[in-house]
Amino acid sequence: MESPFKADTLKGKVALLTGGGSGIGFEISTQFGKHGASIAIMGRRRRVLDSAVSTLRSIGIPAVGFEGDVRKQEDARRVVESTIKHFGRIDILVNAAAGNFLVSAEDLSPNGFRTVMDIDSVGTFTMCHEALNYLKKGGLGRSSSSGGTILNISATLHYTAAWYQIHVSAAKAAVDAITRNLALEWGTDYDIKVNGIAPGPIGDTAGMRKLGPEEMDSKARDYMPLYKLGEKWDIAMAALYLASDAGKYINGTTMIVDGGLWLSRPRHLPKEAVKQLSRAVEKKSRDAPVGVPTSKL
Ligand code: HXC
Repeated sequence: MESPFKADTLKGKVALLTGGGSGIGFEISTQFGKHGASIAIMGRRRRVLDSAVSTLRSIGIPAVGFEGDVRKQEDARRVVESTIKHFGRIDILVNAAAGNFLVSAEDLSPNGFRTVMDIDSVGTFTMCHEALNYLKKGGLGRSSSSGGTILNISATLHYTAAWYQIHVSAAKAAVDAITRNLALEWGTDYDIKVNGIAPGPIGDTAGMRKLGPEEMDSKARDYMPLYKLGEKWDIAMAALYLASDAGKYINGTTMIVDGGLWLSRPRHLPKEAVKQLSRAVEKKSRDAPVGVPTSKL
């Protein structure tokens, strides 16, 4: 699908994306690149990085991949510094690296819980922390008046509760808190905008393969909070908007990009039935003598 944004929307910007070599992260890398940004990708798998970088370069996007695990502070520091060495600055940090699997709370070991917290929440904070000196106004390669921007990829699972996702719900709730607190502190002190995106279920992603696998029978899939699919492009366009000048006054928000799915519940009554039922109930109570319960009429 063609982008509605101008091709130079991110011209001259440098973006560093964790988890930017696959899934939603790769689509953001691609769209940022197509709109003028240079792209640095951090990921654990060399093969995935190489393939992502060569795809980006094949369409003329300046791109580089650095191996690293967001759970390791030394990796975070090395990748941030390597990006600076390669491109000279960092304008946009996207925290898209995440870990997930379906497991009941009862069967989840504390180490399994910690692993996802470490990747999603601590990893996000660590990357932000290591990139701060370069993102702040007056940081290397930027003016003394304008800071960079951070985008944290979140989820909607924790707005209510989600079956077999206690670890991810806790981790993404922490990510949202990181987004708001950094927006407050670093927005004020350093002119850095910090926002999040909460995708719904997105087709052709590791999240969908893990949370709503095809092996699951279709009835069970229908009952999961993951049945109406979006596209990776939808998330990338939201990211582009938030990272561009169009989003210059947006700070500390997590934009939900799920078609309204998180609001939805199964419909218990057809709309026509509600209309008739409701009118009848209202009439009954209007006609009732004061003080007499309608059930006694
Ligand atoms: C129960 C599990 C498990 C499973 C791992 N563990 N998989 N427990 N069910 N399926 C437990 C292990 O038993 C172990 O605890 C602990 O988690 C760490 O497991 P390791 O395999 O040693 O971890 P590691 O090799 O570091 O792998 C991390 C990972 C893996 C998260 C488990 O899946 C991964 O690297 N994922 C990255 C890619 C990914 O998941 N992407 C999907 C993102 S989707 P013990 O106690 O045994 O030592 C996404 C969508 C979010 O984020 C929301 C969507 C709406």
